[in-house]
Amino acid sequence: SSDQKRQIERIKQLLIERDATLVAHYYTDDVLQSLAEATGGCVADSLEMARFGSKSPSSTLVVAGVRFMGETAKMLSPEKRILMPTLEATCSLDIGCPAAEFSAFCDAHPDRTVVVYANTSAEVKARADWVVTSAIALDVVAHLHEKGEKVLWAPDKHLGRYVAEQTGADMLMWDGACIVHEEFKAKGILDIKRVYPDAAVLVHPESPQSVVDLADATGSTSQLINAAKALPHDTLIVATDRGIFYKMQQAVPEKLLVEAPTGGNGATCRSCAHCPWMAMNALDNLEQCLKEGLGEVTVDEAVRVKALVGLDRMLAFKS
Ligand code: 13P
Ligand code: SF4
Repeated sequence: SSDQKRQIERIKQLLIERDATLVAHYYTDDVLQSLAEATGGCVADSLEMARFGSKSPSSTLVVAGVRFMGETAKMLSPEKRILMPTLEATCSLDIGCPAAEFSAFCDAHPDRTVVVYANTSAEVKARADWVVTSAIALDVVAHLHEKGEKVLWAPDKHLGRYVAEQTGADMLMWDGACIVHEEFKAKGILDIKRVYPDAAVLVHPESPQSVVDLADATGSTSQLINAAKALPHDTLIVATDRGIFYKMQQAVPEKLLVEAPTGGNGATCRSCAHCPWMAMNALDNLEQCLKEGLGEVTVDEAVRVKALVGLDRMLAFKS
């Protein structure tokens, strides 16, 4: 609409006035992703968001995504002002891994190398030897396993199980899950495969094992977009948040992309895979945060210094 166009123009102007760069995750609204691209920001998976943010010359970064992405940006660039359209956007993995309980779990297993998924609070990262995202988890854990290290993994049990299976590493697991990906079921994938028998299946590894087992490609959001390009199939069934369809369809305009249904056993829901916290990011709160400087992310300096150990290892890691 013309109202929306005017709002987008205002936001573009504010980005310039505030020396701000917009970084958006693939799961945010299409309009935010296209705005990030149009203004010299980036649309990326969580690893690339961290890399991009730490290299950006702007004095302010606006992170459209969920809380841990803003905190990671702040910890990597403490001199920058990090804003988020809303600080309420969390993640079920973060919620399910409170720092005090996690710390006690680590204390009980001092012989293990602590590897935490990026989808955690700064305090949880402060207990970690390594931070990883889904794009790099396999390579890091394979490396630790080769060195003979046993791993304490948190919080995503599905990603952890997948990494353990692929690498053969000894991994003690926290019991967390993503509420979006956990809803994909093998039954639902098999049902949709009957409709599109020649399709390839793309799966984010936060999904349950039975779903990963049906995948032709498994990986982070960026890795799934690359797989969409690389696979020879004309039809792709995609088991991850539906926000990814915006960039994935741009990458493969000639292919048919099909949303994997969530549910199974009769309770099949189409177009349901969408993170409620990613969905909190919108043009209105983006404009507001730029205008008023609202939604500024802060991280305690002592926590930051500890969390940086694992974050720096992640960014320096070359497989
Ligand atoms: P990616 O690292 O694949 O972008 O995933 C982040 C996330 O929150 C997935 O649900
Ligand atoms: Fe967390 Fe899942 Fe949302 Fe990603 S999609 S932010 S893992 S709840």
